[in-house]
Amino acid sequence: MTDQTTSTRRRASFHRLTVSNVRRLTKDSIEVTFAIPEELSAEYDYVAGQYVALRKEIPNAEGELQELRRSYSICAEPTGSEIKVAIKRDLGGLFSTWANENLTAGDQMDVMSPAGAFISKHRLTEINDPSKIDTEAQDRFVAVAAGSGITPVLAIARTILAANENTRFDLIYANKAAMDVMFLEELADLKDRYPSRLALHHVLSREQRISPLLSGRIDSEKLSTLLDTVVQAPNVDEWFLCGPFELVQLVRDQLTGMDIPAEKVRFELFSTGEPSKPQGHIGRPVKVEEDEDSYEISFTLDGLQGEVKSPVRANETVLNAALRVRPDVPFACAGGVCGTCRAKVTSGTVTMAENYALEPDEVEAGYVLTCQSHPTTEKLSVDFDA
Ligand SMILES: Cc1cc2nc3c(=O)[nH]c(=O)nc-3n(C[C@H](O)[C@H](O)[C@H](O)COP(=O)(O)OP(=O)(O)OC[C@H]3O[C@@H](n4cnc5c(N)ncnc54)[C@H](O)[C@@H]3O)c2cc1C
Ligand code: FES
Repeated sequence: MTDQTTSTRRRASFHRLTVSNVRRLTKDSIEVTFAIPEELSAEYDYVAGQYVALRKEIPNAEGELQELRRSYSICAEPTGSEIKVAIKRDLGGLFSTWANENLTAGDQMDVMSPAGAFISKHRLTEINDPSKIDTEAQDRFVAVAAGSGITPVLAIARTILAANENTRFDLIYANKAAMDVMFLEELADLKDRYPSRLALHHVLSREQRISPLLSGRIDSEKLSTLLDTVVQAPNVDEWFLCGPFELVQLVRDQLTGMDIPAEKVRFELFSTGEPSKPQGHIGRPVKVEEDEDSYEISFTLDGLQGEVKSPVRANETVLNAALRVRPDVPFACAGGVCGTCRAKVTSGTVTMAENYALEPDEVEAGYVLTCQSHPTTEKLSVDFDA
């Protein structure tokens, strides 16, 4: 594992922060700014591309308060005094609808310290540390984003373009219509600032643009042409893909087909594409009987040892079991996409159902997503601090 991975995978913790501004971006999306008190600025330092999880008790359809956790990528470059996220309303979505309708300046919310590995690893491995940047490099970066997938990409593009005056950044950004484009003005301003180094390719699926290539859904044929003619894929040093599962998967598959090395491709999924598995739902309650067959799970969290039994019949995840004895066990999506629940297996084994968050080198080093892991040995030990 690289130093970068270690530093961006620090253990996340929640603090209550105040919303200092809510700005409407489009009819269905808002930008939310949280003020960071000086004493917490080190905790909320981040690398462009990372996300925070938000935690809030929100009334459900019956009016009962229900704790929800959702992850949102940070959309601005680091300043030390604030964090900005953008929340797009997901049709029928609990948290995003609530936030779009109710959130106002002065509200308070639990915000997790930044996490995530959707960050540049090409040369600019320390983009927060200008002394380490190779200012001579003439690198090419390409991002493919759709809808709210622009959020981390905007932070990455701003940081990369500002860090090195020789880099070039191409953004292919897909939306339904011009009125849905989040950060339209910010992107135009960025283009004005870097006219020869930033190329914006807005693709609108439900509006006719002058170029047929930029009109309609991005299917395999359109993508192929975009990759060949607009961005010349073989010359690209690093890729950033962010959006719905199907689009990210389509681009990854095509890049693989073009022999683009996987190490050059960073991607972030906002959901697994399985609506029946919405995010952030803590698992079901499990009652443990004294004499039944159980796995014995031990774990380290914040230097403290925890022990919990998990009945074999319950087939529950390690996270589900651990939360029974330590409610502060970190998690956000519970769907294998964010990586917040990561821990290292120190003895025993597990099977992992889904993994959209860990890099192959992390899996090789023994890290697992506890929200997706089921014990396969009678005794299992994991370390959340590793
Ligand atoms: C690392 C990461 C970063 C992210 N960054 C951003 C970001 O920058 N901006 C952003 O807007 N989003 C982002 N997301 C997505 C965000 O976390 C939420 O998933 C999103 O806002 C939807 O949450 P919700 O509570 O509104 O929807 P949910 O209530 O979780 O529902 C999600 C969808 O599932 C459907 N659904 C819910 N329950 C069921 C059911 N039982 N059966 C069938 N369908 C159901 C809903 O209709 C909805 O369409 C990110 C996610 C991750 C993992
Ligand atoms: S909580 Fe998001 S991957 Fe496990």
